Amino acid sequence: MRIARGSIPLRIGAQLALAAWITIVGAPVAGGEEPLAPKLTPKLQDLLRQEMLSVQQASQDILLALVSGDDARVAERAQKIHDSFILQQSMTPEDRAHLMAVAPEDFVTRDRAFHGLSAELATAARAGDRPAQRERFRRMIDSCVECHERYATDRFPEFAP
Ligand code: HEC
Repeated sequence: MRIARGSIPLRIGAQLALAAWITIVGAPVAGGEEPLAPKLTPKLQDLLRQEMLSVQQASQDILLALVSGDDARVAERAQKIHDSFILQQSMTPEDRAHLMAVAPEDFVTRDRAFHGLSAELATAARAGDRPAQRERFRRMIDSCVECHERYATDRFPEFAP
């Protein structure tokens, strides 16, 4: 009991030090990234997996819609990816603080960029601009790969160095 009580300020102190270190020094050096999921609470791990499964399904639908010239379907699915920020929607302030403490800034930036691309894809699809749709979709696939290479080598060990 005494040990547990004593360890709480220590842990908070260490987290503050880490947060300050990240603010000053920046995210870990490129190439030194680690899998993100093991650092998350079980709830956040679950939210991340749910979001990824829904992104995977929507991406498969988009591929089929793109090669069928179905602009309306591309727009609807891409918008769904953009809106289904499950990770953001179901997070309490505590969850969010935890995520921000453990996720490198680079991960958060990549996640935002990915969701931004899905909004651009939806816009291109509503405008019926097919070359732009293909260009955005290619960049989205690049985002999947680049993020998995850096932060999901536990789930996708083939990407491990
Ligand atoms: C910003 C980072 C990021 C982006 C972008 C991203 N992912 Fe992921 N993805 C992850 C992480 C981290 C995991 C590992 C989650 C885990 O280990 O439970 C993951 C896991 C997955 C999984 C495995 C889910 C499971 O069953 O455990 C699938 C499928 C997946 N992603 C699909 C995609 C697809 C498709 C895209 C792009 C269209 C994409 N992801 C984009 C970070 C990302």
